[in-house]
Amino acid sequence: MKRTCWNTELSVQNINEKVTLLGWVSKRRNLGSILFIDLRDRSGIIQIMIKDADKFPDLRNEYVVQVKGAVSRRETPNPKMKTGEIEVIADQIIILNTAKTTPMIIADETDALEDTRLKYRYLDLRRPAMQKYFDIRDQIKITTHSYLHKNHFIEIETPILCASSPEGAKEYLVPSRIHHGSFYALPQSPQMFKQLLMVGGFERYYQIARCFRDEDLRADRQPDFTQIDIETSFLDQNEFLHLMEGLIKEIFQNTIGYEVKLPLRQMTYREAMSRFGSDKPDTRFGLELHNLKKEVFANTSFEAFQKADVVRGICVNGVAEATSRKVIDSLNLEAKKFGLGGLSVLKLEHGEMTGSFVKFVSEAEKSSLIKEFDAKDGDIFIIAAGPANRVNPLLGAIRLSYGRQLGLIKPRSYDLLWVIDFPMFERDIESNKIVASHHPFTRPRDEDLKYLDTDPTKMLSYAYDIVINGYEAGGGTLRIYDQDVQKKIFNILGLTDEQVKEKFGYFVDALQYGTPPHGGMAFGLDRLAMILGGTDNIRDVIAFPKNLSAVDPMTNAPTKASEEQLKELGLSLIDEQK
Ligand code: AMO
Repeated sequence: MKRTCWNTELSVQNINEKVTLLGWVSKRRNLGSILFIDLRDRSGIIQIMIKDADKFPDLRNEYVVQVKGAVSRRETPNPKMKTGEIEVIADQIIILNTAKTTPMIIADETDALEDTRLKYRYLDLRRPAMQKYFDIRDQIKITTHSYLHKNHFIEIETPILCASSPEGAKEYLVPSRIHHGSFYALPQSPQMFKQLLMVGGFERYYQIARCFRDEDLRADRQPDFTQIDIETSFLDQNEFLHLMEGLIKEIFQNTIGYEVKLPLRQMTYREAMSRFGSDKPDTRFGLELHNLKKEVFANTSFEAFQKADVVRGICVNGVAEATSRKVIDSLNLEAKKFGLGGLSVLKLEHGEMTGSFVKFVSEAEKSSLIKEFDAKDGDIFIIAAGPANRVNPLLGAIRLSYGRQLGLIKPRSYDLLWVIDFPMFERDIESNKIVASHHPFTRPRDEDLKYLDTDPTKMLSYAYDIVINGYEAGGGTLRIYDQDVQKKIFNILGLTDEQVKEKFGYFVDALQYGTPPHGGMAFGLDRLAMILGGTDNIRDVIAFPKNLSAVDPMTNAPTKASEEQLKELGLSLIDEQK
């Protein structure tokens, strides 16, 4: 059954050579007594010409075949194909296996619904466009192994059946058969273990780690996903970030041949939120947020603006005409989703400002608004007022949707930056409780330790995210290695000594035995593959993903457990009818 070469290894250099190829029939075109088939193998497609078709077996799409023949120059070359200048004239074709008619077309362009693609994922994966994503994903991993080993890292696996980890999402629990009533948690990340590997003296660890989070799914989230997980000892923040930039540069180079300029720029969390309304800003286009409270509306008669913590806005060019009542209603609806009563839209048309809110805007305010944004006829202003932590994300989301809608983002352009200096704590909007922005082991910045006892919410931390094209492609922190600071942080988070002991006792113990200063991060491998593959759907780069309802339509996971299994695990189900 041996093949002499892969399909796409052949070129005009091989004309007249006898070859044996293996693969799938991807397309057939019947021109009377001559039949053309596209033969697909792992490398790509080549055209096979079959003269005297009735002397050959009957071929159907997706049959698995062996083709023997001679390479020949094509009469009409196809410049879109790698092998477009040649074809193989078949001497012999052996059918190795037949195939049923497939429930979806196996070609780069498919109109199959996503659930059909996931149900027949093995067919979907045959599509060359899909295989390209996996080449990229594979290349990211190869580059990671090689770069990190070159830089003295060691790969170590950590457990999948563990105790809880403090990443903040809901956990998947696995009931113990041996210890009824006890559960393992699947790791949200190897966070605690990798820090213990630093206590264990490895200094530079990494792992391509499977992680599990039971959270609401989005286009860039999966319940089980993969991280390039990294931890190092004895590096300060910039030393660590520069080491990581080197990895990203090699990944971009080796996967898509793109040259990333180093060092990457660093933007504080504060600046990102205030200019772009997001801690993962897509900085490939403008439409930046402006402060308007003092700058434009200092003497406003509009009560909501007077009372608001911030009044901020964006100016969108050239959309005044398209901004119908319906568009304004949907913007207001968006504001409600972000916890604001609404927002104000003003249009600049035929030298005049219009909009339901315009009666509250004085002539002086109108001209200062126009000046603030250097606005022109046809532009609109979208203005929101309220607490900064609602106004910024709202305008950030609107900015992004206009950026996409108006085609302001150049396709296949890349923008990479670090967002740094995240707040150490934030207040949970619902409970108003102080919670850790990252996790409780994040180290506060040295210069902010003075607020530890007085006003911890003022503290910023050694936390950083790498943002690529508006995606959080990775994130991490330097860690606390001082036990007193760690204790105080637990206190601030309202954890009692008892709770700390129960949750992280082993970890706090370990800190006492000579813990080196350490820190790390994790890149989302799936997100990197998605960005580099040029898709905005994370499921495209995962071989067997879950759909948006966290179901695998192929295996039907999650499935019900049998009575017997439940009994063995010491579990009984609550009757849903009751
Ligand atoms: P974090 O929670 O920020 O950090 O995760 C790191 C990166 O993992 C990716 N990611 C996801 N990708 C797909 N689906 C998900 N559900 C998902 N959740 C996260 C993102 C994210 O930036 N232990 C820390 C890292 C550290 O501090 O060293 C951690 O897990 O790209």
